[in-house]
Amino acid sequence: MNFQQADLFEPIRAAYEAGGTLSNADLYKRLATDDVIPEGALLERIPVGKAGDLHNPMLRKIRWAQQSLRRLGLLEKVPGERGVWRSTKESRGDLTPAPPRAILLGFSTKLGLALWGDCKDVFSQITEPVHCVITSPPYPIAKGRAYGAVSEVEYVDFICHALEPVVRRLAAGACVALNLTNDVFLKGTPLRSMFKERLVLAVHSRLGLNKLEEACWVDSTKAPGPIAWASKERFLLHTGYEPILIFTNSDKPLFANNQRVLLPHSAQHLKLIAKGGEARTGSYGDGANRIRPGAFSRPTAGKIPTNVLSFPHRCRSQDEVRKFVNREGLPNHGATFPLALAKFLVEYLSEAGQLVVDPFSGWFTTALAAELTGRRWIGCEKMLQYIEGARRRFFDCDGYLEDYLLAA
Ligand SMILES: C[S@@+](CC[C@H](N)C(=O)[O-])C[C@H]1O[C@@H](n2cnc3c(N)ncnc32)[C@H](O)[C@@H]1O
Repeated sequence: MNFQQADLFEPIRAAYEAGGTLSNADLYKRLATDDVIPEGALLERIPVGKAGDLHNPMLRKIRWAQQSLRRLGLLEKVPGERGVWRSTKESRGDLTPAPPRAILLGFSTKLGLALWGDCKDVFSQITEPVHCVITSPPYPIAKGRAYGAVSEVEYVDFICHALEPVVRRLAAGACVALNLTNDVFLKGTPLRSMFKERLVLAVHSRLGLNKLEEACWVDSTKAPGPIAWASKERFLLHTGYEPILIFTNSDKPLFANNQRVLLPHSAQHLKLIAKGGEARTGSYGDGANRIRPGAFSRPTAGKIPTNVLSFPHRCRSQDEVRKFVNREGLPNHGATFPLALAKFLVEYLSEAGQLVVDPFSGWFTTALAAELTGRRWIGCEKMLQYIEGARRRFFDCDGYLEDYLLAA
C-alpha cells in the first residue's frame, strides 16, 4: 500500500470532530479500528538520523498531519494536557473558512481541481490561460447567507478585488458570466439598490471588461417575493428572474457560440422550411423588419435561444448532494444554481477542452457542468464543508481522487 502522509488529513480531522477531545493513544486506536492505517503499522520501528535511534514512521506521519492541521487552524492542543488535541472552535462550527493564503486540494478529476482557498489567493497562483469564468458570487443581501455577508456599500470593491487575479489570467476573447440578484433594497424602502449598475461600470473601468450580454434567468418555481414590498405592501411585482451579466475582455468573444446551445425548431417552423419559407411580403416597425417570399426557407440546425433563460431552480443533481450532506452531517448550501443553467452557460461560452473556472464554487455546479461537457476546470471555495459535500457529485468522474494536500 502506498501510504501518503496527506491520506491522514481527513481521517484525523474527522476523528477529532467525532470524538471531541482525544489523547494521542485514543486517536491511534481510532485510526487502527477504522482501517485508516495498515495493520501492524504502529509496531514497526526503523532507525532514523545519524544516531540511528529507532522510531515508528507511522507515528511521525500522524504527528506531521496533526501539526499541519494545527497550522491550518483546524486542530489545537488542549492547554495543560500532554498529547491531547481537539478541533478548534472555528472548525467545530458549521463552516470552516480557509486560513489566509492557504490553498488545499479538496478533490480532483482528470479534468479539474477543486481547491479550498480564497479566490484571490487561488487565482494569483494560476498561470494557465483561463477561457471562461462562470460564477455566482455572494449577493449583497441584508440577511447574509451562512457563508457570510457582503454589504451593499462594499460590494463593488469586493467583487472587483475578488475577480482581479482571474481577469489577469483570461485568454484574449474570454467571457466572464456573473449570476447576480436584482432584489437588494435600500433600507426600509421598496427602492432597488443600484449596485448592479455601479458594478457594471466598475467592471468596465477597473477591470477593463466590456459588457456583452445581460440575460435573465427565469425560474418559474421561485417563491413569491419580496414579501415586504409585493405581498404586504403592494408596491412591487413579484420577482421572476435573476440577471446574468456576461463580459468579455476583447471586441469579440472568441469562444462564445450560440450554435452549441441550439434549441429544437418548433413543428410550425419545420413546416415553414419544408414548404420553401414565407410566401408573403410584409413590412413592420416602419420598415425595420421586412418579410420577403422565400424568407426562412434555409434549413438550420436549430433555434437560437433568446437571452431569457428558463430553468427551474429544482435540480436532481443538487437534490443528490443535499441527501448526501444530510446523511454525512454536513451543512446544506442555501444559494446554488441549477446544473442545467451552468451547462447552458459552459457550452455557450467555451469550447470543449478549454479551461472554465469558478472563483465562488459553492457546491461546484459550474465545475460539474464543465466536467460533463469535456472542459477542463478549476473551482475554488472558501468553506471546507461545501467542498466535502460537493465531492459527491464527482465520485463517478474519470480519475476522481480525494485529497488534502497543502499547496502553499
Ligand atoms: C452563491 S454561492 C455559489 C454557489 C454555486 N454557484 C453553486 O451552484 O453551488 C457563493 C459561494 O462563494 C463562497 N465564497 C465567498 N467568498 C469567497 C472567496 N473570497 N473565495 C472563495 N469562495 C468564496 C461562499 O462560501 C459560497 O459558497
